[in-house]
Amino acid sequence: MKKVLITGGAGFIGYHLSKRLLDIYGNDAELVLVDNLQRGRMDDDFKNLLKDPRVKFLELDLTDQNSYKELGDGYEHVYHLAAINGTRHFYERPHEVMRINTLSLVFMLEWFKKENSIGKFLFTSSNEAYAGALNFFGLLPIPTPERVQLVVEDTYNPRWSYAATKLVGELFLIHYAKMYNFRGLIIRPHNFYGPRAGYDHVIPEFSQRIAKRVDPFPIYGADETRTYCYISDAVRAMQSLMDSPKTDTLPIETVHIGDFHEITASELAEKMFKVTGWRPKEIDIKFAPPGSVKRRLADVSKLQALTGWQPEVSLDDGLKRTYEWYKAHPDKS
Ligand SMILES: NC(=O)c1ccc[n+]([C@@H]2O[C@H](COP(=O)([O-])OP(=O)(O)OC[C@H]3O[C@@H](n4cnc5c(N)ncnc54)[C@H](O)[C@@H]3O)[C@@H](O)[C@H]2O)c1
Repeated sequence: MKKVLITGGAGFIGYHLSKRLLDIYGNDAELVLVDNLQRGRMDDDFKNLLKDPRVKFLELDLTDQNSYKELGDGYEHVYHLAAINGTRHFYERPHEVMRINTLSLVFMLEWFKKENSIGKFLFTSSNEAYAGALNFFGLLPIPTPERVQLVVEDTYNPRWSYAATKLVGELFLIHYAKMYNFRGLIIRPHNFYGPRAGYDHVIPEFSQRIAKRVDPFPIYGADETRTYCYISDAVRAMQSLMDSPKTDTLPIETVHIGDFHEITASELAEKMFKVTGWRPKEIDIKFAPPGSVKRRLADVSKLQALTGWQPEVSLDDGLKRTYEWYKAHPDKS
C-alpha cells in the first residue's frame, strides 16, 4: 500500500493532487486528507472524491495540538499544504496568516519526527519567499534559481506576512530534517491555476468577470509578468519529485515548479478574451498594490533534471478549461 497524508486536502492543490495519486497508484493508494474547511470547500467535486473508498477525510484544525492524535502513522509520504493563502488575507489578517501557517508547520514537524519519521515530508513554500529579494536587490537572476536570498522587504507592510511564514518554514524543514535525519522536500509553486482554485486569484477573477461580461474590464498590475502552470502539470511535478529517490538526500532539496512562458496581466486578459470568445469594449488599467513584484520567472531546470518534467497543457487549453469550470461554478459567497 502507498499510504499518503495530505494536509489542506480540501483545497485547490490538495484536491487535484489527490486525484493524481489515485490515478497513478491505483489500488495501492490509501489517502488521508486533513482540512478544517476554512477555505477548502465541501463542494460536489470534493464530495465525489470522498466517495472513493481509498480516501479518508479528517476535519481537523492543525493549529490545535489535540488534532494530532487523530492522524495515526505509517505514511510513506506527507504533503503539508495547509496554510492561509491568497493575497487578500495577507493584507486583512496578517497576524492570523503568521499564526496559522507557522503553528501548523511546527506542530506537523513535531508529530512527524515522533510518529512518522520513516516517511518523507513535503512543505509547500512559495515564490513569495524570494519575491522580496527580487524587489529589494533588483539583481536576482531571471529566470530565478532556488539558491538565492530570501528577503522580507518591509516588516511593516502586511503583504510580507505570508512570505515570512514560507521563508521561516523552509528553515524549519531544512533543520528538522537534518537534526532528526528524515527525508524532506521543499517546493516553491509558481502560480498554479485550474478549476477549483478559489475565487481570489487573477485567473478565477478574470473568468468570473468574463462570465458576467464586466465592461469596463479592470486589470490590476497590467504590466506585471508571471508564468502560469496548469494544475495537472503542477501536481504531476509534485508527485514525480516525491517518488524520486533522487530527492531522498540530505540536506533536503528545494525545487521550483512553474511554467516557462512569461506573460503580462494584460496579455493574459487578451488570451482569455480570445479563448472565451468575448471582449469588453473598454479596459480599466489599475495600479498593483504596494509591494507587488513586477516580474517573476522561475528557473525550473532542477525540476527537469530530477524528473524530466515538461508541461503538457498549453496556456490556451488550460485557460479554456478553467474558464468553463468557473462559468459553471460562480462564487456564491
Ligand atoms: N496555488 C498556488 O499557486 C500556490 C502558490 C504558492 C504556494 N502555494 C502553497 O501551496 C499550499 C496549497 O495551496 P492551495 O492553492 O491549495 O491553497 P488552498 O487555500 O486552496 O488550500 C489550503 C487548505 O488548507 C486548509 N487549512 C488552512 N488552515 C488550516 C488549519 N489550521 N487546519 C487544517 N487545514 C487548514 C484550508 O481550508 C484550505 O483548504 C499552501 O501552503 C500555499 O501557500 C500555492
